[in-house]
Amino acid sequence: MANENQSNLHVMQRGEGTPLVLLHGFPFDHALWRAQLHGLEGAGVRVIAPDLPGFGRSPSLAEGEASMDSYADAIAQWAKEEGLGKFILAGHSMGGYIAFAFVRRYAEMLSGLVLVCTRPGADSEAAREGRYKLIEEVRKRGPQAVVDAMLPKLFAPSTAESQSEAVDDTRQMMLRQSDEGIIAAIRAMAERPDSTSGLEAINVPTLIITGAEDAIIPAPEAEGMMSRISGARHVPIANAGHLPMIEQPDAFNEALNSFINSSH
Ligand code: MLT
Repeated sequence: MANENQSNLHVMQRGEGTPLVLLHGFPFDHALWRAQLHGLEGAGVRVIAPDLPGFGRSPSLAEGEASMDSYADAIAQWAKEEGLGKFILAGHSMGGYIAFAFVRRYAEMLSGLVLVCTRPGADSEAAREGRYKLIEEVRKRGPQAVVDAMLPKLFAPSTAESQSEAVDDTRQMMLRQSDEGIIAAIRAMAERPDSTSGLEAINVPTLIITGAEDAIIPAPEAEGMMSRISGARHVPIANAGHLPMIEQPDAFNEALNSFINSSH
């Protein structure tokens, strides 16, 4: 089921039960979570996968407005309009950066947190420069520039070899995003604050999922959050890179399911 409401977000939903909002990373859309939308249905979970502003079928924010905070605001507004009540928020990579902003601004709306292949720190100077160069490339070549920069690093080598259809679908998902949405998100990531000092304040059950072969956010970086979030659990997914929800959907869904069942 897809719906749009006053907040203008395009949102896919499936199933009934504990609400679980899944925030995709960059530069994807709700289809990143296809295996969760289909695989968790019937498990007592209401799976909710929005297209973030400027991605998929959700309109962009006004120019210069994109930030982790404004993406979080859009999700909060949607959830309030929907009368969702408390929900579990899962964020993948950039979706995780947005989840940290959400925790800062709307902690009272959350009943749980899932951090997937993400990191709390801000960009280094070098990383920021790389982002601004990528913006120039996107202006010249569109989303293909991001595909060239990211696709070779997204999957574990074994996935890249054995799941060519998944790699192809992912390429198509990246290519269908707009220059405008991509550029706004790159700038917003470059300018995002360091969220490390806010980790100790997280007071909802938290699950950290890593891809053992993640070449974009190496697992140890994500694991560093463990000691700062009280009671956090960690599930490393073997034979997966930066997209474990696609590469190993069964293991990924099992991790989500047992977290939800034991904490909700
Ligand atoms: C993502 O997957 O969302 C991005 O790789 C995150 C980033 O570029 O920092």
